[in-house]
Amino acid sequence: MRLLIVEDYDELSVRAAEMVAEAIAWKPNIVLGLATGGTPGGCYRELVRMHRERGLSFAKVATFNLDEYLRLPPSHVQSYRYYMDENLFNLVDVKRENIHFLDGLTMDPERTCREYENAIKASGGIDFQLLGIGSNGHIAFNEPSSSFQSRTRVISLSEQTRNDNARFFHSLDEVPRQALTMGIATILEARVILLLASGVGKAEAVAKSVEGSVTEMVPASILRTHINCTMLVDRDAAVKLTMQSLSSQG
Ligand code: PGA
Repeated sequence: MRLLIVEDYDELSVRAAEMVAEAIAWKPNIVLGLATGGTPGGCYRELVRMHRERGLSFAKVATFNLDEYLRLPPSHVQSYRYYMDENLFNLVDVKRENIHFLDGLTMDPERTCREYENAIKASGGIDFQLLGIGSNGHIAFNEPSSSFQSRTRVISLSEQTRNDNARFFHSLDEVPRQALTMGIATILEARVILLLASGVGKAEAVAKSVEGSVTEMVPASILRTHINCTMLVDRDAAVKLTMQSLSSQG
């Protein structure tokens, strides 16, 4: 895993967007795995700017988002589908039929998850996966103790995650208790992974993931075993690393 430490959130967002844009230039019909949350917003803003100013095109790109709250309709402002429409999909030339999303309103979650896995396989697999990290070390909604073998499934959100995400809702009570999420094994099959972490709130999760044991109690720690994973973090998210000067662990 490669660890890149940048100055601040703005630099992180620009660097991340450049990496995504380079990947699209390399393979215009790339299959992108996309993340939601506070962290990737700056990267999406930058990609939209590149689309407008430099003609970066998503016309052949296919996307698969990592996760979705269970029982939130796509029209709900806190659904991840709504987030993606507002922050990226409605602002670039991606084709609607190439956007893949877990259906939070499904009546048959197991089938929905199975079909999502099949759709990823049918697309040829995810070429480039963008990830955030939870303050508890989760990736997508794979909470601590999730199996490294896990595939797309229903998950109960931890109290820490519900508390972290309550800032986007009117109250903690409104935060859904369950979600659909790609599994850890699903994520690890991506050819390239880029994890973004910003702010002191992520410092402990970053330090545990990079320097602690590889353990299912810290889901992001498994990324160290991936052959092409970059962790792009800002100074604040890096403050708890003891070996900051080593920017590459091989
Ligand atoms: P955040 O969430 O970007 O809103 O901090 C990241 C995550 O939970 O994966």
